[in-house]
Amino acid sequence: MDSNFRFCDADYKSYTNTDELPAGQEALLQKNETERLKSLVKEYGEKLGHEPSACVVTFGCQMNARDSEKLTGVLEAAGFKLTEDEEADFVIYNTCTVRDNANTRVYGRLGHLHSLKDKAPLKKIALCGCMMQEPSVIDTILKKYRFVDMIFGTHNIYKFPELLCRMFESDETVVDVWKDTKEIVEDFPSVRKYPFKSGVNIMFGCDNFCTYCIVPYVRGRERSRRSSEILAEIERLASDGVSEVMLLGQNVNSYGKGLEGEISFPELLKKASEVDGIERVRFMTSHPKDLSDELIETIASSQKISRHLHLPVQSGSDEVLKAMNRHYTHEDYLKLVEKIKKAIPDIAITTDLIVGFPTETKEDVSRTIDLVNEVHFDNAFTFIYSPRTGTPAASMPRAMTDEEISACFNRLLGAVQENARSAAAALTGSTGVALVEELDEKDPSLVTGRLSNNYLVHFPGDESLIGKYINVKLTENKGFYFIGERI
Ligand code: SAH
Ligand code: SF4
Ligand code: F3S
Repeated sequence: MDSNFRFCDADYKSYTNTDELPAGQEALLQKNETERLKSLVKEYGEKLGHEPSACVVTFGCQMNARDSEKLTGVLEAAGFKLTEDEEADFVIYNTCTVRDNANTRVYGRLGHLHSLKDKAPLKKIALCGCMMQEPSVIDTILKKYRFVDMIFGTHNIYKFPELLCRMFESDETVVDVWKDTKEIVEDFPSVRKYPFKSGVNIMFGCDNFCTYCIVPYVRGRERSRRSSEILAEIERLASDGVSEVMLLGQNVNSYGKGLEGEISFPELLKKASEVDGIERVRFMTSHPKDLSDELIETIASSQKISRHLHLPVQSGSDEVLKAMNRHYTHEDYLKLVEKIKKAIPDIAITTDLIVGFPTETKEDVSRTIDLVNEVHFDNAFTFIYSPRTGTPAASMPRAMTDEEISACFNRLLGAVQENARSAAAALTGSTGVALVEELDEKDPSLVTGRLSNNYLVHFPGDESLIGKYINVKLTENKGFYFIGERI
């Protein structure tokens, strides 16, 4: 194995680290590497005959998107011109592997990148993110996609400046994928898509091991950041013009686990909402098993905490929930939702649903449809189960055929849409505060704003409103969004 190849093998469950420095020293090292990188990027530009451009493509969830902001920040600091065009000189795919179709998309688009590189041989292509934590993926890329210049995983993303230097200094594919990490290095420059809102990582990884899910294997054990560091980051963001933050973690309700003397998630949420300049705080994702009364009270007591709870239920069948290792029942979930709605009547509740989990039968799906009709979700992401290598569910026998699963999926989707439509319709005529995000894509005489409950509203306005909080009335319901007017 050559010196540019470091891959910690497939023993997913073991917990060892490769060579790491303490967070402070590591941040310093990467700052120095960024300086070195600047001159390498300059040389690269001279070879190209123009200012080098870079494009970061995000394939995954909010946490993946937050990582992309950090990658973009490093690239900008190194002297790249940023673009969203994949004809850029340097393209990096920040991948996701939660379902197989995420992987298929990456392979499909790599074919296109290959043809671009054939036309521009100095083009550099890198891959990172969750999909790269899978050994079989690395094998495939090294065999079939040899034009890729660099591959790294989720644990050493903070080494991006150093990895880029290695890529520019090497003619071989740089591969650096770690099995896990203890360190949390967060001292990154980053470039935000919207200047007025930002995600903030409060924890990494996941310890829940839902039997269908690959996230704990590709993101590692759950690690929380110190609240003092999180709040300092939010203060910095606020002084930089950010007024909305989204606290990010796979299971924010277990925030602080393993950190001696740390505050609870509701306390953190409250403190975040009290930072000067912060007008709105969102969070993602909540696991129903850990959602506390303290959290409900905290949301109810502050208008700055968003009236939106994404509370993935996955299934309404007790047998399936047990096989999924979710630690709650249909009844537990209903009771929890009832308690939340009683304390916070204007809250919007959304969820994730999976159809076709191996043990699931048509009757199980009917129980999920019952639950959808009982809760009246404001919206739901409905996924067809996708077997993930190494997860317990992948080796369970299947109860339904693909055709049966597809019919169940359509039945469930029908129920989800009907409930979502009636939940939105019930809000027509109400008022709210919208954070204006952008000009309407189709009609530039309108702006698009997001309400505290996460619904979108389009209303007359111009660019000067972007980033502002505007009182609106929802005059017309268009299915899942609204047309409104300023009040
Ligand atoms: N941590 C979050 C979910 C992260 S993954 C939580 O537990 O709430 C986002 C969603 O992808 C999950 O809620 C689940 O609905 C879906 N998902 C995860 N693994 C899947 C798989 N193997 N097949 C289909 N959907 C899956
Ligand atoms: Fe996956 Fe479950 Fe962790 Fe969510 S809580 S990331 S579904 S293992
Ligand atoms: Fe995908 Fe990784 Fe997020 S697998 S859903 S990008 S944590």
